[in-house]
Order: sequence, then structure tokens, then C-alpha cells
Amino acid sequence: MVIIVKFNVRRGIKTLYLSIIILVIIIAIIGGILAYNYVSAPKPPSKISFYTWWAGLERFAIDAVIGNFTAKTGIQVEKTAVPGGAGVNAKFAILALIQAGKPPAAFQVHCGPEMLSYIYASPHGEKDFVELSSVAKDIGMTDQAPDVLKACALAGKIYTLPVNIHRANLIFINKQILDKIGGKVPTTIDELVDLSKKASSAGVPALIQAGADVFTIFHLWEQIFLAVAGPQKFMMFIYGTLDPNDASIKKATEIFLELAKTFPSNWQALDWTGAVADLVQGKGLAHVDGDWVVGLIYNVYPNTIMCSYDQITPNCNIIVAPFPGTEGIYNLVIDSVAVPAGGPETSQGVEFARFFAGPEGQKIFNPLKGSIAVYRNIGPEIYPTTIQKWEVSQYRNAKAFVFSLTHGALFSDVWSTLLQQAIVLAQTGRTDLWYATIEKALSNEKELWKGTWYMGYPGSPFGGYSPPWAK
Ligand code: GAL
Repeated sequence: MVIIVKFNVRRGIKTLYLSIIILVIIIAIIGGILAYNYVSAPKPPSKISFYTWWAGLERFAIDAVIGNFTAKTGIQVEKTAVPGGAGVNAKFAILALIQAGKPPAAFQVHCGPEMLSYIYASPHGEKDFVELSSVAKDIGMTDQAPDVLKACALAGKIYTLPVNIHRANLIFINKQILDKIGGKVPTTIDELVDLSKKASSAGVPALIQAGADVFTIFHLWEQIFLAVAGPQKFMMFIYGTLDPNDASIKKATEIFLELAKTFPSNWQALDWTGAVADLVQGKGLAHVDGDWVVGLIYNVYPNTIMCSYDQITPNCNIIVAPFPGTEGIYNLVIDSVAVPAGGPETSQGVEFARFFAGPEGQKIFNPLKGSIAVYRNIGPEIYPTTIQKWEVSQYRNAKAFVFSLTHGALFSDVWSTLLQQAIVLAQTGRTDLWYATIEKALSNEKELWKGTWYMGYPGSPFGGYSPPWAK
């Protein structure tokens, strides 16, 4: 009995030693692994890259956002600004990086199918981008900006966080020139054509459009088309479901060619900022563009006074009006941020997008940008120009919303072809080439939606138009 007890005690002690040794080894191994990981785990970088086309005279608003973001978080944002209004160059630089699997931490993009072009170009499609619906909810957009979110949703998913609302269907008129030729602000397309002829016979270029960064030419065709066709057919253009022989296309093109005759002789050499400079200096009557012009005038020509067409003051220099024939319609341009997924910079990219699109970022960005914030509870008082305050009420009282073809509503390849061909149209008057391009563009658009995607949420399509494939 005694022997047995002795034997068991010894065995017990041996087992205990063994267990302790094994435990020590296990702890050492786990500790080693943890220590290794702690040392070698990639720390999120403190500098991230953001691609944009807000360069040169357009830089003020984005620079203010980046400065405030860095001050708040310590994260530096390296802005790669590829110049060219409307992203005529930047979009293709970003596409190339994405195709190569080396995307930036975050990039500027319009809401709408433009984002699908990046998704299609990316090696793993949708998976390569952060789905941002929960961030949008966190920063109050679901409550305060449901209408804008609907414009940004692609078949119910948010891949782009909106940072503003711009408006495409505007005309900027030099009041001094208008008074000189004895005209009044046109409210219909016919009045615009008559006024342009009046300017031409007085020896003044009527519409200062810009060929050098390409986009303002198609931008003009688009606004004429909106005035002639109305919102429903405009939405059908976006989806490629419009009959290419629809009379509105021909009518818009004929009016466009009438107006193109009134461009200044140097129109091909101007970019949009040059066109605005010439407008401010009275080298022509008017310029058709979006309200980024308001931002440019505010930042660069602080002595130039802008007023809206329904409140023209005697000291006003530039009158801002809805493009004739499109009153009550808001042709939306929504700038936004997208974040590529799965990279070392992704979490910081999301943090940047969250700040930029959140109320704090929008209050910094929009006053300087010429646009308005997406949040309903951000009131007009934050804007430095009367035009932005006027835009808030124009937006809130609009009867119809469409999405700008030149700024987000077309797939990037289709968009680029139309932009180039509009230049050829203005230069040569070759309507045969133009109609063929439009026919092709419509059929490409229809195909690129792939019978799957649409703008909006299930059962709640954007713009009140549902393409046949939307469920
Ligand atoms: C638009 C963009 C605006 C402004 C404009 C001119 O496409 O949405 O924010 O940048 O181009 O570059």
C-alpha cells in the first residue's frame, strides 16, 4: 500500500514537470508568434493617395478638405491632380491604375454608371471596391440625403459616397454685354437662339464654349437635348432605351449647330476656366456650364458679382439662370469618393471618404466649390455666394431630376466618344457622323448596363424611370 502510494506520487510529480515544460514551450511558441506578428504586421500608412481632377484653379475646395482631414487625423493625403475639366484625363489615369491592380487609396468619381466602368475594369469587379452603404448610414445620409443616395445607388448598392450636388443646366450671362446688345435673359430655346443671333450681329461671340478640355461642347448639346426632349427621354438616353431616330435628337442637333456658329473664333484653344475668364472680361455674351463656375468666380474673381436671373441687381456682373427651357429641372452632377478594397491603404481611404462626405467635410468643401451639400439639415446660410443659396431653393423645389450625361450618367468609353465627336460636329457640321455616333452610343449604353444594373434602389429607381430590366 505504502509502496503504491510512493510510486504514484513520483509518477504524479514527473507528469507535473512534464506538463509544466510543455506549457512553457507552448507559451514560448505562441509568444514568439505574437511578437513576430506585432513587429511585422503592416501598420496602416500615415500617407495615402487620392486621385482627382481638381487641379489648378479648381483646387481650393479639395485642398481645404485635405488640410482639415490631416489636422484632425494625422493622415497625410497625397493628392494626385490630373488636370482636365470633367475628368477628361484623370478618369483614364485612374482606370489604368485599377486595371493594373494598383489603385489609389481613394479617388474622385461621379455617382452613376461612371463607377461601373471602374468596376468592370478591375480584376475582381465589385469585390475590388468597398461597399459604402453602412458608412453612408453612419454619417447620417440615410436620414438626411435619401434622394441623393438614390441617385448614387447602383441596383441598391453604394460604391461612391457623395460629397456635393452640382447642377449642369445653367447659363452664365455677362450683364454688361446683355445690356449693350439690348437683350433679356432667355427662358426658352427659341429666345436663346434669337439672342445669340442678336449678339452675333453686334459682333459679339454669343456662347463662349471651350474645345480644349472638350467637355463643354457635349455639355451644351446635352442641355439643348434636355430642353427639347424633356426629363423622361433624357433618362432613356442614359439607359440607351431611347430610339436613335427620336425627333428630339435631330432637333437638338440642329439647334446646337445654330449656336455653334456663335462660338468665339478661338473656341478650340480655350479650356473651361479660360472661357470663364473671357466671360468675366466681357469677351462674349454667355457660357453654358455647371455651377463649378460659381466656385471658380468666387475663388479667382472675387470682385465679380453674380446674381440669379430672378433677382437681377444693378451691380450684378454675371447673371446665372437655368438653361433656357429647363426651368424646374435639376440636372444633377454628384461628385463622390470611391475606395478600392483589400489594400494596405483601404481603411485610411474609408476614413478619408467618411470625413469628406460627412457633414463636417461637406461644410468645408461646398462653400468653396460652388456646389451645395447633400444634407437637408445643412441650411443655405453656410454659402458665401447668393447663387448657392438660390440653388438650395431651386434644388428643394425642383419638379424633375435627371443625371448629367457629361458628368457621370454614361459609361466612360461611350462618354469619351461622344465628347470627341461633339467637337467634330461643332467643327465640321457633319450630322451624319454625329447621328451614327449617337446610335452606337445608345446601343453600347444599353449593353453596358448588362440587363442588371440601374440607378436607384429595388422598386425605387432614380429619376422616376425604370429600365425594362430593373426589378
Ligand atoms: C465636373 C465635376 C465638377 C467640376 C467640373 C469641371 O465633372 O463634377 O466638380 O470639377 O467637372 O472640372
